[in-house]
Amino acid sequence: MAILITGGAGYIGSHTCVELLNAGYEIVVLDNFINSKPEAIKRITEITGCTFKFYYNDLLDKKSLEEIFLENKIEAVIHFAGLKAVGESVYIPLQYYHNNILSTLVLCETMKKYNVKKLVFSSSATVYGAPEKCPISENSPLRALNPYGRTKLMIEEILQDLYVSDTNWSISILRYFNPIGAHESGQIGEDPHGVPNNLMPYIAQVAIGKLKELNVFGDQYSTNDGTGVRDYIHVVDLALGHLRALEKVTYSTGIEVYNLGTGKGYSVLEMISAFEIASGKKIPYKIVDPRPGDVAVCYADPVKAMESLGWIAKKGINEMCEDAWRWQNKNKNGYEKNLHIESPHFIPSEDFLIRSK
Ligand code: NAD
Ligand code: UFG
Repeated sequence: MAILITGGAGYIGSHTCVELLNAGYEIVVLDNFINSKPEAIKRITEITGCTFKFYYNDLLDKKSLEEIFLENKIEAVIHFAGLKAVGESVYIPLQYYHNNILSTLVLCETMKKYNVKKLVFSSSATVYGAPEKCPISENSPLRALNPYGRTKLMIEEILQDLYVSDTNWSISILRYFNPIGAHESGQIGEDPHGVPNNLMPYIAQVAIGKLKELNVFGDQYSTNDGTGVRDYIHVVDLALGHLRALEKVTYSTGIEVYNLGTGKGYSVLEMISAFEIASGKKIPYKIVDPRPGDVAVCYADPVKAMESLGWIAKKGINEMCEDAWRWQNKNKNGYEKNLHIESPHFIPSEDFLIRSK
């Protein structure tokens, strides 16, 4: 029996594949590399010493997805695939709705057809909009503020409706806070296209000398030092949260939402100084206007995940910064060694991949 991972070549997906393989799971991975590179798949095999089936498919392609279900004994699905850039989603909302929502519909229809009803879904703390209070618990009001966030909220609602229609489904909706860091090997990590939008990859690229200085978006928020506060979580802790959620959906039915965060908030200036210590590099920065749409403070109440999944984030910001720096330092231009892909459907070449274990 295998676990299908959609979007498994991406930042969070690749780290989750590593943890699943380390734990002995058989995995089948699907990605269309719209926001990732084949090299990530190769690195997963190098870190773990395990092989797995990889499908170079678009999740929107229902026929190809059905083939995956016919060729493999899929037991459960972890669904990472989606477009994720908040700013971009404002400019190309139709692509976001089309890709994120339609692909989830295609996935769920196919799962239903093949009687696979165990699903772990990547949602986001963005569904809380501008939270009224912190820490944010799962039953806080939901209010998405941009097209990306609305795709997450709509998918959550679609999954709730699906469960109401058939209580044999077992679904975990995971609302991630701010994933940062990288695998301790420095072999896989976050590889944004172009200039990063998010704080940690931006800082890392300043440290390595690719960017001149960091723009700190506002220092007049009502926080300790005036800069924005977020709940940064190590991507490996986040990946391990998926293993706990997978166990949950495997052994029970129902639909549950879990925050995956640490419960602690750090300001932008605190993150700069933690990164300076981890890297031994000075991070030049200047204060600029606040970024439109940003909230002052956002951190999780992680108690439900602790009580129901037995999961807790263990790694602190020093480790997050050290691992992010190791990845950046070893891979100045990310996964620049881009492997060539010949077939749009399946990559069988021996030096690349990999049929079953
Ligand atoms: P990512 O972009 O690195 O990974 C997503 C992967 O999905 C990419 O490899 C991309 O190529 C693939 N993909 C997208 N559309 C596809 C399609 N139609 N068919 C096949 N593959 C497709 O993003 P990530 O940071 O790893 O995030 C994973 C999930 O977690 C996303 O759904 C994202 O919205 C959500 N999330 C991310 C964050 C974050 O800060 N990184 C926070 C909250 C939620
Ligand atoms: N920031 C800067 N300068 C930068 C980038 C960010 O000062 O160049 C600040 C922001 O103003 C904010 C903090 O750093 O105070 C974190 O910003 P990020 O862009 O890294 O993260 P966000 O909290 O804005 O958003 C991220 C993801 C969203 C997701 C959300 C919650 O981008 O998709 O976390 O999970 F919804």
